[in-house]
Formats: sequence, structure tokens, C-alpha cells
Amino acid sequence: MKAVAVYPGKPNSMHLTDIPMPSLDEVTDGHGVLVKVLRVGVDGTDKEINDAEYGQAPVGSDVLVVGHESFGQVIAVGSNVPSTIRPGSYVVASVRRRGHSAYDDIGLQDVTTDDEYYERGINLCHGYPTEYYVDHDRYIVPLPDSLKDVGVLLEPTSVSQKGLNQGYEVQRRLKIWEPRRGAVLGAGTIGLLAAMAMRLRGLEVTCFSRRKAPYLNSDLIEELGGHYVSSSERSLADASAAYGPFDIILDATGFSPLVFEAAEALGKNGVLVLASVTGGDRKVEVNADKINQGFVLGNKLMLGTVNASRADFLSGVTDLIKAEALFPGWLKKLLTTPVYGLEHYEEMLRQLTENREAIKVYVEVDNNSLPPRRGVG
Ligand code: BGC
Ligand code: ZN
Repeated sequence: MKAVAVYPGKPNSMHLTDIPMPSLDEVTDGHGVLVKVLRVGVDGTDKEINDAEYGQAPVGSDVLVVGHESFGQVIAVGSNVPSTIRPGSYVVASVRRRGHSAYDDIGLQDVTTDDEYYERGINLCHGYPTEYYVDHDRYIVPLPDSLKDVGVLLEPTSVSQKGLNQGYEVQRRLKIWEPRRGAVLGAGTIGLLAAMAMRLRGLEVTCFSRRKAPYLNSDLIEELGGHYVSSSERSLADASAAYGPFDIILDATGFSPLVFEAAEALGKNGVLVLASVTGGDRKVEVNADKINQGFVLGNKLMLGTVNASRADFLSGVTDLIKAEALFPGWLKKLLTTPVYGLEHYEEMLRQLTENREAIKVYVEVDNNSLPPRRGVG
């Protein structure tokens, strides 16, 4: 079957390859699920892997099938798969696979202490831009049919859910934490989905990002009832004076210097959640005494987060359902840029790297989902 792969370590090596059809008995004890891939989303991680900044092939392979945001339909299940996953079910597979630490043993590989982690489509395991995949049911998350048009957003949703779920979890230290105002830094897919999740938790939301409004992403923040602030017009400190103090801030900008401004702007007893993977080696001068003093006298907390546990995928499903009810049509507007067919991976890369109007670029893998009809009919 067709698959989109790279030669890890070799820049710009994305190509179409051929891999064997997987079989249910690759998973022992009747826990296998065979899934037909319908859609695969792409993000900055895929771009960085194609740029050879990271990503490793599975042991014994010289290529890595690259792509970790899946959406598909179950074709067949093993004899021990829970009845919540049946042929015909729409499903999304999680990304990280078990390693060797105590956290991995209890299914929390998103907080593994291993140095090397296993992530489908990213590191040491093949990903989803292919025709079928097989996996253990513990990694397969079923979605209601009502989410079939937007289900490919579940993986990025799960990443923002983990950040917020962990933020809320650690704030139990305060016994009566009642957050009122949240801020999201960055208006990309993760930032938008974090803003949505904050609104669904009843927060006032401010989204702080570089580009000047109006454009699609700032409109989407306003449709949620949030405020959009452009960093080219106002500093984060100003935004906080106008719309804060913020009880929770989630950073999804990929621009690490902003983290230290956020640490200053964070309200008393607040939590700052860091979700940007920043591979560079940027250095900045920070207001060290001021930040430290603010954290000490304000009992503030800074928290890093990566990937997502099964529980975060499940809360993601719940939030997607709520979002469809409260902000009908909103999620679909994030799916700006479909590319039809795996063989058009070059077009996919181009959209991902050059199209600044794109929010989510994704591949329609299934041959039955044809492009919109053109011309006079
Ligand atoms: C993925 C996460 C993954 C992280 C680090 C992100 O793009 O969405 O699932 O853990 O990259 O590899
Ligand atoms: Zn990702």
C-alpha cells in the first residue's frame, strides 16, 4: 500500500513509498484493530521531520512513514476488542507508544522518563499517511458519527486538552481555585483549540498572537466570544492590564522569549502552561528578579506539557462534541486546506510551509472522498 515517508536525517526527502498491508494478528491476544485511513492532518512537527531536525525510522527500516494526526474507520477487530470499537466505528489513534518507565507501565507514556520515546509518525514508529494501519485497542479512541467531519482535529485537540487538564489538576493545590480569565499565546491550531477548550470551561479568553486582526484566526477567536490581541499592536503586559489578570496562560507560539513575558503577566496563584516544542538555541535577557519575586510572592506555577494521555483524548472527544453544540460550524472552519490523495504530498508540504492563510492542512486519503466538482455541471 501507498505511504508517505522520509529518510530520517536527510533533509527534504519526503516521498511516496510502498509498505505491506498490516494484519490483525500483528497484535496479540485478540486486541488488534484494523483501520482504514480516511484523513491525516499535518503540522510543524512533520515539517521539522522533513527538514531532518528530528525523527528516527523504526528499527530495521530506513524510512519513517511521517504523519501523526489520524482519522479513520474500523474495518475489523480482534476477538478481545471492547464493544465500543466495532467495524464501521470512526476512530483516532493516539501518538505515543509504551516505553520502559513506570509511567509507561500504567499507560502514561506521555509523561515517560525514558530518554527515547516512541511516537507513531514521529519517532521510531511508522505513522498514518497510508491506506490501513493496525494497532492495539488501548491506543484507539472511538468517536461518535456526529464528529466524522471534524474528527481529524482530535489529536491536536488532545495536546491542548492535556495542557489544560494538567493545569487544572495542579491547581487543586489551591483548594478553591476559581479561574475566571485565561490567555492563549499563539493562534495556530493548538492555540485555537486551547481557546475553545477554555471557553468550554467557562473562562473569559484572550488570544495573543503576532498577526494583526482581522483574519480568519482572529475572527475564530471572536466567534468564541474571546478577545484577539496582536503583539504588533500591544504588549502582553498591556493585554493583561486590559483583559487580565490571567489565572491560566497556555503558550503555543513556538517563540520561547514570550514565555518569560507571560511569566511576568501571569496573575497571582496562576498557572502558566508551556506547550511549544522549541528546537533552537535562542537566548534572551529576562527580568529575573522580577519574575522570581512575582512567582514567590504570587504563589505562581509554570508547567511543561507534551503529547497526551488516553484521558486527554477522551476529554478532547467531549469538548469536540460540546463545541459542535455551542459553536456550530466553528471546528469545520479550522479545516481550511484539504489535499486530495497521498500522492500529492508535495502539494501538502507546500501548503504547510507557504500558505499563511491555512490553519489545518490535511490529506483526504480515501479515494471515495473526491475533490469538490469544478466547472459547470
Ligand atoms: C505531537 C505530539 C508529540 C510532539 C513531540 C507534536 O506535534 O502532536 O503528539 O508528542 O509533537 O514529538
Ligand atoms: Zn502534532
